[in-house]
Amino acid sequence: MYFNSDEYTDETLESRDCILHYRAYRNVPYVSNPVCERLQVLNIFIPIQYINGQTVNNYTSNTAPIFFPNAIGGYMEANPCSPYVKENGDFNTEALALKRGYVVISAGVRGRTTTDESGKFIGKAPSCIVDLKAAVRFVRSIADKICGDVNKIVSNGTSAGGAMSALLGASGDCEEYEAYLSQIGAANQSDSIFASSCYCPITNLENADSAYEWQYGHLNCNHWTRWNSDNTTTEMIDYFSLKQKQHSEDLKHIFAEYVEMLKLKDAHTLLLLEEFICTKLIESAKKAEQEGECVSKECGIYLAENKMNFALYNSYITRMKTVCCFDNPHAFTCENELFGNEFENVRHFTDYGFQNDLACVQRAPEMTVFLMNAMNFVGRKGCVKHWRIRHGAADRDTSFAISACLTLKLEECGYSVDYSLPWGVEHSGDYDLNELFDWIDFICKR
Ligand code: DHB
Repeated sequence: MYFNSDEYTDETLESRDCILHYRAYRNVPYVSNPVCERLQVLNIFIPIQYINGQTVNNYTSNTAPIFFPNAIGGYMEANPCSPYVKENGDFNTEALALKRGYVVISAGVRGRTTTDESGKFIGKAPSCIVDLKAAVRFVRSIADKICGDVNKIVSNGTSAGGAMSALLGASGDCEEYEAYLSQIGAANQSDSIFASSCYCPITNLENADSAYEWQYGHLNCNHWTRWNSDNTTTEMIDYFSLKQKQHSEDLKHIFAEYVEMLKLKDAHTLLLLEEFICTKLIESAKKAEQEGECVSKECGIYLAENKMNFALYNSYITRMKTVCCFDNPHAFTCENELFGNEFENVRHFTDYGFQNDLACVQRAPEMTVFLMNAMNFVGRKGCVKHWRIRHGAADRDTSFAISACLTLKLEECGYSVDYSLPWGVEHSGDYDLNELFDWIDFICKR
């Protein structure tokens, strides 16, 4: 791949109260042997002050952090992000990052539904993480042609994108990805980054079903929202069958074994893990109350006594997903699709899902599943030291245990984790960008 530093446009964006000038390089190929030319490209945005030799927020063209957001959702393919003005007149994430003085680089990546002209799947696992790594390598290879400090790359993503941000942070330069990277012609550079910001990471997929039953298994139905064809919504409740209740019981036991196997110092039993999560939920409720929000007693949190009833809280927020909502016996989930291969759209990726298969589908190779889970790389040499993890206190897409175990494992390895469960927040990201950017400034400037 070749980077032409003269192929840019200088652009302007205007929000209600601010004008932003930046230099844009768009759709730059980041691998020399692309599988998908449409997606394996990245965008680079540079605050114009750096081109003019000026500073922003005390950063110079050499010291500015590189904010590296991905737009991955639902493990689908993603186009590279760009700055824009939202319908309400505010800047979006990328525009606000430029305003803060960050160089913004975002890569397109393949996803679970990406096909070539012949209909062959070309974006199944581990494509999305491989593409992000290839993009980081490319950025390092053009370090002297762009502004920003390639040793200060800060990744950001939400949900599946949060999971990939976590994995990118944890697995820097791990040799298990090498064959995939050389196949697509990634630059011969490091793919390690500096820091990882993860909103509601849907990670640790092979333990997500069991973690979900640990948290919600006492509930006999799930509440979800159906989108109708006329764009209205209907609130739905599904009651569980005896078979589903049996699966739920089985999975609860499997989660207990998993937590034991993790040997987390501060959460080597389910009770301690629950205590950790409850402490975070109480902290979150307290903060909300101090900020004037009403924390209803019905949610099972009793702030005066500094206590909570976890089971009651979970009944209050309700469960959203059905039993086996990640690796389903019928293999209908987006995660089943993630773990397909070139010719099979869906596969199982857990022992339990495969043993209970009702769809006559195969099991993904263990290595493929391994390569998609940030937990497997925490503590390795290329794992980043700085972490910021947010998981909304009203988010029911995956168990709190998933982000909690990631946090505890990271802390055990000596990394600093800024972790919280913001009150009332559902499955979403980028809702506290001022705080996120303060954190980036803090870790980059100290
Ligand atoms: C996403 C949400 C999910 O509930 C899930 O299982 C996978 C991905 C997402 O929003 O990216």
